[in-house]
Amino acid sequence: MTEQRPVQDAKAIKVPALPDAQTVTEVKHWTDRLFSFRCTRPASLRFRSGEFVMIGLMGDPDPKTGKQKPLLRAYSIASPSWDDELEFYSIKVPDGPLTSRLQHIQPGDEIILRPKPVGTLVHDALLPGKRLWLFATGTGFAPFASLLRDPQTYEDYDEVIITHTCREVGELTYGAELIDSIRKDEMLGELIGADKLARLRYYPTTTREPSAKMGRITDLMRSGEVYRDLGVEPITPEHDRAMVCGNLAFNLEIKQLLESYGLEEGANSAPAQYVVEKAFLD
Ligand SMILES: Cc1cc2nc3c(=O)[nH]c(=O)nc-3n(C[C@H](O)[C@H](O)[C@H](O)COP(=O)(O)OP(=O)(O)OC[C@H]3O[C@@H](n4cnc5c(N)ncnc54)[C@H](O)[C@@H]3O)c2cc1C
Ligand SMILES: NC(=O)c1ccc[n+]([C@@H]2O[C@H](COP(=O)([O-])OP(=O)(O)OC[C@H]3O[C@@H](n4cnc5c(N)ncnc54)[C@H](OP(=O)(O)O)[C@@H]3O)[C@@H](O)[C@H]2O)c1
Repeated sequence: MTEQRPVQDAKAIKVPALPDAQTVTEVKHWTDRLFSFRCTRPASLRFRSGEFVMIGLMGDPDPKTGKQKPLLRAYSIASPSWDDELEFYSIKVPDGPLTSRLQHIQPGDEIILRPKPVGTLVHDALLPGKRLWLFATGTGFAPFASLLRDPQTYEDYDEVIITHTCREVGELTYGAELIDSIRKDEMLGELIGADKLARLRYYPTTTREPSAKMGRITDLMRSGEVYRDLGVEPITPEHDRAMVCGNLAFNLEIKQLLESYGLEEGANSAPAQYVVEKAFLD
């Protein structure tokens, strides 16, 4: 009997499996600052395309108590609501408490995922319209990677225009490849229609490295260049709806611009003409 005691003790002190654990299935590194990964989806998780959840890893043990607490951060779900797995698109902050470690995950590793999705970048927070504008900077593309793969986006709008502004060309690759895959996808390609360019327009710009289109999207809107480039009418509150996701200064500038066109900010509880969410806390 006494021989079994160490076994029982060992069981008692065994580190428990991560709470709300999900298994990483795929990791892709896009630049030295950006990566994406996919993981298993909890069977009970229902979410609306565009929402975010808290994800993370177990933190380091407290030096005094030895106890470990989950280290969690908000992350937009980049995959659409119909997908069997979940996808995330992430920054790597060199000394960031979470991403300095998260950037090293490999298939088979576990992450923590709290299954409580929330957010304002959802179709329900917008009134019906004809044209949907999605304005992103940096990793603010993530919620739109979800919405752009959701058939509802094309059922609700005649035309969808996604703009993505990054400092460097390499930071556009995740978005560019996603747009390409949507155009080639059997189901979404059919929805977008034969004249695919007319229903889904992609407008990438860079600010610090030369590319086909340079400049902040806000400046290109003020000058009217974006409308001339795309051959579309400027934004009106009658026809246009918008979702915005970027850094704080960008969000504030776009909000001002959209309001100057006559659009009003919406929320889940009071749908209107545009919605905004921060891509990260400054
Ligand atoms: C609603 C919401 C949704 C978010 N969705 C995503 C997402 O889909 N993908 C993602 O990578 N991050 C996202 N973030 C940011 C994320 O929560 C973390 O801040 C990020 O993972 C870095 O964590 P950290 O612990 O390494 O560093 P933190 O201590 O959280 O951040 C350190 C600093 O790094 C910078 N930073 C943080 N996140 C970013 C970013 N995404 N892009 C550029 N600079 C950044 C900021 O200057 C910040 O002060 C989101 C934040 C919010 C509020
Ligand atoms: N991207 C990098 O290569 C890089 C490298 C090392 C460290 N960092 C650090 O990482 C953090 C985040 O960098 P990030 O590049 O991911 O995000 P970011 O600074 O939010 O910039 C992303 C894009 O948004 C544009 N932008 C910023 N403010 C805007 C506004 N008010 N209106 C319109 N567009 C606006 C930027 O243009 P501008 O270029 O004109 O600002 C850039 O093209 C920063 O603290 C940065 O110092 C970034």
